[in-house]
Amino acid sequence: MAAEAPRTAGPDAPHVPVLLRPLLAAVAPVSGTWLDGTFGAGGYARGLLEAGAERVIGVDRDPSVFAMAAQWAGDFGSRLRLVEGTFSDMDRLAGEMLDGVVLDLGVSSMQLDQAERGFSFMKDGPLDMRMSGAGTSAADLVNEAEEAELADIIYHYGEDRAARRIAKAIVRAREAAPITTTRALVAVVESCLPRPKPGQSHPATRTFQAIRIAVNDEFGQLIEGLEAAERALKPGGRLAVVTFHSLEDRVVKRFLLARSGGEAQGSRYAPERVDAAPAFKLLTRRAVAPDDAELAENPRARSAKLRVAQRTDAPAGRPDRSSLGLPQPAQGPAPRRKGH
Ligand SMILES: C[S@@+](CC[C@H](N)C(=O)[O-])C[C@H]1O[C@@H](n2cnc3c(N)ncnc32)[C@H](O)[C@@H]1O
Repeated sequence: MAAEAPRTAGPDAPHVPVLLRPLLAAVAPVSGTWLDGTFGAGGYARGLLEAGAERVIGVDRDPSVFAMAAQWAGDFGSRLRLVEGTFSDMDRLAGEMLDGVVLDLGVSSMQLDQAERGFSFMKDGPLDMRMSGAGTSAADLVNEAEEAELADIIYHYGEDRAARRIAKAIVRAREAAPITTTRALVAVVESCLPRPKPGQSHPATRTFQAIRIAVNDEFGQLIEGLEAAERALKPGGRLAVVTFHSLEDRVVKRFLLARSGGEAQGSRYAPERVDAAPAFKLLTRRAVAPDDAELAENPRARSAKLRVAQRTDAPAGRPDRSSLGLPQPAQGPAPRRKGH
């Protein structure tokens, strides 16, 4: 699991976007209309336009990213169309069949850096974490969810074995006063976990990741986004996905394997599946990781993984979601541990 880390860079910023070079190499030659479903600072969209895409549709659920892009988007005129929305809706937002789709999952450096967005356990701010700025905030969730639900979220989305202990501490703390700031949540988590040893991540890393994933329904978005890409891509179109933690990569890997006919789709308990022609062909058999040069330039890219596939001409279908390794806090209680 990665520590909290900025991931992206605008064209004028000192950081290069994560895995952009291998991504462009894996999808080359780039032409036609592409959709960047996680526009952020626009590093991927710009890279695609410069690599030969005739047009790029840049989608982001965070409306604040578009103001930043205004500084350079004009250079590309009508070749770049910016759309506020979620990538789960990409086929509708695009309104046309696509030659390529890129997704660079997770939170951006701009979002982490703005204390007032509440994503960072290292900066004090309101406990918000909503990428879109709308809907249920982290404070709503932390102050209103049942203890068992909080434990499940922290266990399944944060993979924190101390999930039950942390959930119990949250409930105890909020009975005294609502938890409304990132600092207050950090203090609660720290109060019930041992001090980290040198080299270990901050104790709040996993809880913050888990709450952010729940607030933004990141796994619902991911599976619906992959399915939407399957519907939106033309035969021969490319899908490239960059993930930042193992839970996301597992889902992308299993989706692409299942949809490329590489592995049994159904679970033991699922009804017999009807064999259908593969909707994708894998272009990367194994996930691509940053090379030494990228890691030297940006050590925080170390957890990033890229997977790329090419759409076939088979009709779009839907995978058996139960076989994709989607973490499901609602279905599996966090295990009870001795003494917690
Ligand atoms: C890691 S950043 C992408 C950075 C981008 N590749 C670049 O080069 O600047 C992720 C971005 O995706 C957006 N995002 C995350 N989930 C989304 C979703 N389901 N739909 C649309 N945008 C999303 C976030 O708001 C954030 O701006």
